[in-house]
Amino acid sequence: VAASRASSATPPRPGRTGAGEVTLRDLRRASALAWRAASFLARDAILRLRDRDAAAASLAPRLRALLETSGVTAVKIGQYLAIRVDLLPAEICRELSRLFDRVPALPFPVIRALVERELGAPLDRLFAGFDEEPIGAASIAQVHRARHRNGSRLAVKVQRPGVAAVLRSDFRVLRRLAWLADRLAVFGAVSAVELVDEIAAFTLRETDFRQEARTAERLRADAVGSVHIPRIERRLSTARVLTMEFIPGVPLAAIVATAEAGDPQAFDRAAPGVPPAAIADRLARACLRQLFVTGLFQGDPHPANVLVERDGTVAFVDFGIFGELAETDRVVLRRYVRNLALGRLEASFDDYLLLVEPTPGTDLAAYRRETLAIMAGWHRSAGDLDLSPALRLTAHFQGQMFGAMRRNKVRMRKDLVLFWRALAVLDSTAQRLPVRFDLLAAIRRFFEEEERGELVRQLAIPLQSPSRDLAREALRALRRGAPKLVVETHETPQGHRRGGGEATVLAAAACGEATVLLVLLALRAAA
Ligand SMILES: Nc1ncnc2c1ncn2[C@@H]1O[C@H](COP(=O)(O)OP(=O)(O)O)[C@@H](O)[C@H]1O
Ligand SMILES: [Mg+2]
Repeated sequence: VAASRASSATPPRPGRTGAGEVTLRDLRRASALAWRAASFLARDAILRLRDRDAAAASLAPRLRALLETSGVTAVKIGQYLAIRVDLLPAEICRELSRLFDRVPALPFPVIRALVERELGAPLDRLFAGFDEEPIGAASIAQVHRARHRNGSRLAVKVQRPGVAAVLRSDFRVLRRLAWLADRLAVFGAVSAVELVDEIAAFTLRETDFRQEARTAERLRADAVGSVHIPRIERRLSTARVLTMEFIPGVPLAAIVATAEAGDPQAFDRAAPGVPPAAIADRLARACLRQLFVTGLFQGDPHPANVLVERDGTVAFVDFGIFGELAETDRVVLRRYVRNLALGRLEASFDDYLLLVEPTPGTDLAAYRRETLAIMAGWHRSAGDLDLSPALRLTAHFQGQMFGAMRRNKVRMRKDLVLFWRALAVLDSTAQRLPVRFDLLAAIRRFFEEEERGELVRQLAIPLQSPSRDLAREALRALRRGAPKLVVETHETPQGHRRGGGEATVLAAAACGEATVLLVLLALRAAA
């Protein structure tokens, strides 16, 4: 806190301090970090002397408490390590994923000064209203409600002053320590420098709100059906201030907390008449579409970043953590999951192998044996309704798969870390809803529907006579969430090119067969 206050007078300039320089701040941060680490280790040693087993059992919660109270960098490192289930034991990751990222809100005058400096005008000229109390405050930013001069409701995310400079400084210090650790081979085959660079890149990206704005806009353009991504107000946004449409919904985190406290009406109050299963389904579908179809995905679909609107629409906020998957990887991932679901385990493993990174220490034959055994158990139990839900859960098997990776020194592919993270976060978010959720089953369903969507595209090819059957099939696919009705160009037997066109029928649920038939006829006429 002291460091961020001290720096609030001079905004950090990205990239000004090169990796080679050592600033006064670096030295100050280094001594603070060293002191924290040393006192943790000393206390740990004493605990171990007293009672070895108890010390080992309490290591994970103590580590979490240490990171939680050691400032923004420590929190971010903890949040990153929580997803590296290929490096750390499962219980540590589980504990770290509960890292609490709530900090006291900054006083309003600080926020006002920052917004005015960033946007270059007095607050009351910029907005018709601006709430002094934030609706959320975390280690990187806090969010305020505001009103646009045109009357619309806004959410303004304001970055805590100096936070990027603190992060950069801490990561410089950590990189030097990591370099030393690598020289002494402290972490064996794992390169500490690489890991620090990875966490730094991952975290610093979150401090550029222009990037977050771009991601939001792309996700918004890709979204279909009852999924809502806030519109960004570009004119009221900079690298440190992000102004967007206010989403009139209840954070899923709040609904779940109320429900878990024993209030059975929690979901019905947030979205009257919409069953929790429908919300879980929409959430899963939206995430899976981002992950497998469009390839650009919100990397942290945590309950606090998902809002539920009154009509059951699922909205996402917080696009600082996002990932992108190339088409080739999406194809491999789809095939892997599909083969797994169908019990073609050898084929599934071959694809899985393209998604991970064996190291020189890996015994591939042993890894293959171990993983195939886990996959077989997974496939068997997915359909075995007698097993307890906990044992059928994807997370359970993913845990085993990651255990096999750790034992065999296989690493996650760096560019897929966020993919697995998003999938795991989706799973744990959906688990908190009062429904039986099985990620693998949801993925299987999603692919089946996707393929039916493709079937419609194929069905639509002989467009010479759009029939009621075709319209019915198309409507069914649209209702199931096929994103579009695509009518492809094709060659007639005489060699003429025919057809071609595209219709996005967003209100598919509301429109009837007749409408779809009309759309098909219109497309035919256009062709
Ligand atoms: N556009 C929005 N509309 C409504 N609430 C929002 C909006 N953006 C953020 N919030 C609320 O503010 C909280 C924090 O915003 P978020 O972008 O997640 O910041 P952080 O990076 O600090 O987690 C969210 O959990 C949500 O409750
Ligand atoms: Mg958030």
